[in-house]
Amino acid sequence: MLNYNIPIRPRRNRRSHALRSLVCENEVTVNDLVMPLFVIDGENQKIEVKSMPNIYRFSVDLLAKECQELWDLGIKAIDLFPALDDSIKDKLATESTNPDGLYQRAIKAVKKAVPEMLVITDVAMDPYSSDGHDGYVEEGEIINDKTLPILADMAVAQAKAGADIIAPSDMMDGRVEVIREALDDAGFTDVGILSYSAKYASAYYGPFRDALDSAPKSGDKKTYQMDPANIREAIREVQHDIQEGADMVMVKPGMPYLDVVRAVAEMSELPVAVYNVSGEYSMLNAAAQNGWLDYERVVQETLLSFKRAGADIILTYHAKEFAKWQQAK
Ligand code: PBG
Repeated sequence: MLNYNIPIRPRRNRRSHALRSLVCENEVTVNDLVMPLFVIDGENQKIEVKSMPNIYRFSVDLLAKECQELWDLGIKAIDLFPALDDSIKDKLATESTNPDGLYQRAIKAVKKAVPEMLVITDVAMDPYSSDGHDGYVEEGEIINDKTLPILADMAVAQAKAGADIIAPSDMMDGRVEVIREALDDAGFTDVGILSYSAKYASAYYGPFRDALDSAPKSGDKKTYQMDPANIREAIREVQHDIQEGADMVMVKPGMPYLDVVRAVAEMSELPVAVYNVSGEYSMLNAAAQNGWLDYERVVQETLLSFKRAGADIILTYHAKEFAKWQQAK
């Protein structure tokens, strides 16, 4: 029975660092983090993304070195994105399945340099598409079912190069199933699928599109990416991806969608990832550059919010600096 004469003092559990550590409910560690990386052609290239301070586009040789550095810092997973010259882009994203293309060479180089590093690869047409869309475009429309076999071929090419986990970020209907079937048919039954299940049509992807020079040439992505107003629809997307054979599901972006992360974490039987996207990274950096925020503290607080919301996995451009801060502690 509650005795109302005894004053309730929640502050008692906050009295010291030791006590606060003891009652702490959530913690971020390097085990939770995936570092997204951009790769470009050439040699000895390390070019900063203008809208993302301290984030670079690496040539394959330096990418391998960067992965070794990340591994030594305790980061055990990367998510790779290629930035290609417009001259090799076409309507069918032909370059995406080239076994000697930039992306496949990059995957091989990372697996060779750091064999245990988990290499997550991106499946979507936009880095290779002359239309700049994630799907196949015909008269201004994104044609779902013509895109599916292209995505499946892309996934198999990446698995052949050594990818551990395939991450379809395209938001076409039915892609998890066709990718699972194609991987299994090609003998890659152990290659997993991390599905971008609830990916919203977000303005927070701006700096990423600068990094890859992959903005849509016309129109927007609203007929395939989700309406930021919706949450029930996110649950539906996750349910379908689970049924289609995904191994992990994702919510993207992160900070403005923590309610979605929470809702998905409550219903998903699969591990839940969140993508703390480029615009979120750039916002904190811009504020810090102006001296308006304490950068390390806001980053720590942001990453923690994802764990508190229920995410198991966090894709974040802060992964490397977070790992460095942890090491210095
Ligand atoms: C495209 C893709 C995007 C991101 C990852 N894959 C951008 C888009 O959908 O236009 C965004 C990542 C970020 O902003 O950090 N397939």
